[in-house]
Amino acid sequence: MSGWNSGNGSVVEEIKSRCNIVDVIGQYVTLKRAGSNYKGLCPFHGEKTPSFVVSEAKQIFTCFGCGASGDVIEFIKRYHNLDFSEAIEKLAGQYGIELKAYGGQGSSQKELYYEINRKAARFFLDAFTKKANPGLSYMQKRGLDPATLIRFGIGYADGEWDSLHRYFLQQGIDETLLTNIGLLSQSKGKYYDKFRNRVMFPIINTRGKVIGFGGRVLDDGTPKYLNSPESPVFLKKNNLFGLNLTRQDINKEDCVILVEGYMDVISLYQHGVHNVSASLGTALTENQAVMLKRYTKNVVLCYDSDSAGRAATLRGMDILRAAGCNVKVMGVTEGKDPDEFIKKNGAQAFYELVKSAKPFADYKLNLIREETDLSSDEGRLEYLQRVTQVLKSLSPTEADLYIGAIAKETRISEGAIRMEVFGSGIAGMGKIPEAPSQAVRTPAAGVPQTNVAIEGHYLEKNLLRLMLAQGAYIKRAGPYAEVFQDGACRRIYETMARLYQEDEEIDIETLADSLEPEDVAVIADILNNVRLNDREEEVFADCIARIETQRLCQREQQLLQMLELSDDETDAAKVEALTRELMTIQQRKNNRE
Ligand code: GTP
Ligand code: MN
Repeated sequence: MSGWNSGNGSVVEEIKSRCNIVDVIGQYVTLKRAGSNYKGLCPFHGEKTPSFVVSEAKQIFTCFGCGASGDVIEFIKRYHNLDFSEAIEKLAGQYGIELKAYGGQGSSQKELYYEINRKAARFFLDAFTKKANPGLSYMQKRGLDPATLIRFGIGYADGEWDSLHRYFLQQGIDETLLTNIGLLSQSKGKYYDKFRNRVMFPIINTRGKVIGFGGRVLDDGTPKYLNSPESPVFLKKNNLFGLNLTRQDINKEDCVILVEGYMDVISLYQHGVHNVSASLGTALTENQAVMLKRYTKNVVLCYDSDSAGRAATLRGMDILRAAGCNVKVMGVTEGKDPDEFIKKNGAQAFYELVKSAKPFADYKLNLIREETDLSSDEGRLEYLQRVTQVLKSLSPTEADLYIGAIAKETRISEGAIRMEVFGSGIAGMGKIPEAPSQAVRTPAAGVPQTNVAIEGHYLEKNLLRLMLAQGAYIKRAGPYAEVFQDGACRRIYETMARLYQEDEEIDIETLADSLEPEDVAVIADILNNVRLNDREEEVFADCIARIETQRLCQREQQLLQMLELSDDETDAAKVEALTRELMTIQQRKNNRE
């Protein structure tokens, strides 16, 4: 919608003045005059007595039942599940308002790209449908019907180097434009078709514009899929495959099944599962989550059953939850992906799987269960810590549902778990405490004062400073690498450790080249602000001593916790062993102080 509010007045104003809200809403809702307003049944929530009021004078609608309200554009947005620009386009189209007059330069350029992509899609479609070709045979061999293929606009890019290029030359379309959207590539001054001998999947946005393509090889060549590059009309993070066809069904079912690949969407669709969309291999983005939420809050993740699919499930889950979605996870048990599963077992079996999809918390808890060993105290503790993190993200009532089962499984009392989840918890559990505040503010005598611009991270920054001064410290600090927790310091340390393995002298430029700019800025900060004053060994010894103290504190907390969770009578021997270790640790701590 860039530019629509500039130039010759605002298109929004134009639409509002030309589209009488009573006429527009009247197309969808039976309105009766009531005083100076109009009344009807609210289309946004089920009701039997009208509480939906439209004011002609103010050009707004309000529902006293569900609180929906807004102007004519808002109505169209909500009624048809459109975004702002889509609603504008719809109204403009209906009332003959010329949008071009309002479009900025960017938008006419974009229109041109859309037009080129549309032509390319047509070209690939003709090659796929008008005569026998390897692309069609391939898709038929994979069990897809002509009707499905047409529905998705599937096409074929032949094996020549210049078929599409020649076609566009005839049309008088500039090669630079074609290169910009990735249809042509250039090598040694010559243009050639980017997609060759591939089945072509047009990627179409919810406004019906072809924004890019995915092309699949017909054998096991690489890359398996070639996708259009990012361009002014194709921003991967903003689009989902198939949504142009499936969003109405998603809205109607109030649920979307999110899969990984093109073939999954098409194959499920053919089997009658229409509320489906794909994030296309890349990790699900925040924008995609927000987009889905326009149609439904309920998302069932149905990614491949390999390790990449599982990782994508975990990441996708968090993004969707953050966007406010209800997330469930289903696994396809036979076959590696939904496409294979439904081909083998049919739609009925697939729906059974959808029905048995697990709420995201079950999924995470199971995973944690598989990854920890409940037979050791350390394992039970780790389990409790990780499980607590998951439960904390739930509402108290939801969390409560799981607590009983976890208590049974771990033999930890429900009370102790509740305390971890809802209560203040036991201090210091889990994370190594950030260097205890006393120690940070008053460095040991004789150690130069540091003055680090970004607060905290005393240990990390001093150690990194030493490593930057002398590669040997990278090796010497290796056994203490736990201090580099998340974020920039961790990444810097890991990169330095890797470079050190290749060459014991680290070149600062190579290091900078291997890191993102924000991490390089942290290095600059460390170099400028952490002073060693020729007392490297002292600084190093101080850092190591602090880490060792931290370790003792951490183990102490762990032991206290385990003691708390053990039963004095049944675990008498264990309690004694834990107590002994605790006493030794406390002694060592005292000696250090
Ligand atoms: P089939 O193997 O034809 O069944 O495809 P699929 O959709 O099952 O593919 P897969 O599960 O291997 O990958 C999921 C999605 O990741 C694909 O649909 C593509 O969007 C993307 N993808 C897969 N391979 C590649 C690749 O080599 N390059 C790129 N850019 N994307 C890929
Ligand atoms: Mn597949």
